[in-house]
Amino acid sequence: MSHQVTLSETRNESGSDRGTGSFGGISLQIENVSKVFAGRAGNVEALRPVNLNVEAGEFVTLLGPSGCGKSTLLSIIAGLETATTGSVMADTRKVQGPGTDRVLLFQEAALFPWLDVQHNIEFGLRQLGTPAGERRALARRFLEMVHLQGFERSYVHQLSGGMRQRVAIARALAINPAVLLMDEPFGALDALTRDRLHAELESIWSSTRKTVLFVTHNVREAVALGDRVLVFSPRPGRIVREFRINLPRPRSLEDHSLVDESAEILTVLRDAIGNDELEAENG
Ligand SMILES: Nc1ncnc2c1ncn2[C@@H]1O[C@H](COP(=O)(O)OP(=O)(O)O)[C@@H](O)[C@H]1O
Ligand SMILES: [Mg+2]
Repeated sequence: MSHQVTLSETRNESGSDRGTGSFGGISLQIENVSKVFAGRAGNVEALRPVNLNVEAGEFVTLLGPSGCGKSTLLSIIAGLETATTGSVMADTRKVQGPGTDRVLLFQEAALFPWLDVQHNIEFGLRQLGTPAGERRALARRFLEMVHLQGFERSYVHQLSGGMRQRVAIARALAINPAVLLMDEPFGALDALTRDRLHAELESIWSSTRKTVLFVTHNVREAVALGDRVLVFSPRPGRIVREFRINLPRPRSLEDHSLVDESAEILTVLRDAIGNDELEAENG
């Protein structure tokens, strides 16, 4: 199973114990980060040098065709993958590995099937040595935040895809990271569930002020969630355009200005990318 919650030895690197209070986000400085994967069949240039500053508490969406290096960039920021060139600063610290200040979430919620919802959410806290009473209280709080009260004792196989992602989000929030790295987290969900989770995520973000980097290839999703939308070129990925989204929140996917803004970005994307897959996802 993947590193959805990366813990253990990472605590020192991420600095002092952030405690169990509520902390907002931290800034990220991504400087000249590129990635070449060396393989037997030759090198794959996944990312051209990327420069990006993200403000503390900012919600940035990364939009681009598949294979353009979006996941690679998130993995580098998470400290799970090393950059070929460049560096990532999380607040004032150089990223040199995973840390509890940054959590990565995937399309498939990497939950533990042998644990119930409550214990899945408590998992990271247990790793951090949080006492049982406090763990329970925190789990309850985040369970409520994702509207899963009453499902404490349910197992993963008893949950819908949307509910699984809610558990994954609650588990991530429980360890109080400063940065949420979300890699197409709602990509496998039906439209209605996706809408609902957009609203929930937006409300969680406004109350916690975490820094969020959210990868998608859905233009409307990117516009609905982002303070900024960054458009990537096909592989090797680089940022080709940046859009600041000033629409009032909470945003609705049906909102006319949102639809207009998305259409504009899609036009730019077609020019920059001309990608069939993008058409399918956004048609
Ligand atoms: N561990 C790896 N080894 C070799 N190539 C990789 C590895 N991870 C990703 N790649 C390649 O790097 C490119 C970018 O991949 P990825 O970051 O997953 O793109 P995206 O998330 O935008 O779809 C792809 O061509 C992919 O095949
Ligand atoms: Mg990806």
